[in-house]
Amino acid sequence: MSLIRVVNTVLLTSALTLVAGTIVMADDKPYTVTNGNELDAASYKGFKLFRNFCARCHGTYGQGMVGPNLADSLKVITKEEFFHTVEHGKTGTIGMMPPWSTNKKVMKSRDEIYSYLKARSDGAIGEVKPKKAK
Ligand code: HEC
Repeated sequence: MSLIRVVNTVLLTSALTLVAGTIVMADDKPYTVTNGNELDAASYKGFKLFRNFCARCHGTYGQGMVGPNLADSLKVITKEEFFHTVEHGKTGTIGMMPPWSTNKKVMKSRDEIYSYLKARSDGAIGEVKPKKAK
């Protein structure tokens, strides 16, 4: 094997490792749940915003009321679709959701709300009141 060939193999191997690493990271969960109901700070913030602005239509645990079950929705829609619906609202067969584009608190923390709902969607946190992990 020539030196160039060895260097190429090493480079290729690191490139593949990098790609594999990226895939694993993209698949990483955006939340951490400990002891069944303790959320990381960001997801806990998402929970509080969800409780204040979304729960009256989507239910305390996101299980659905006049609005659809978001734990189910998040198994189907992408994060981008979630962001888009929250910003612009949605009128469909179920009903009408107002847009949140003028609500700075919601707009700034769509990521956190998504993380919290993802924990619900994955069943990582059951139908219990979340606490903030110490
Ligand atoms: C006034 C009631 C109401 C409030 C408050 C509300 N929603 Fe909704 N939401 C709805 C309704 C109704 C729909 C279904 C629209 C349709 O498809 O017919 C919906 C749909 C959605 C969808 C799309 C689900 C899917 O499967 O496509 C998402 C995501 C969503 N809401 C997130 C939120 C979030 C996050 C909040 C809080 C910031 C929120 N909603 C607040 C009523 C509400």
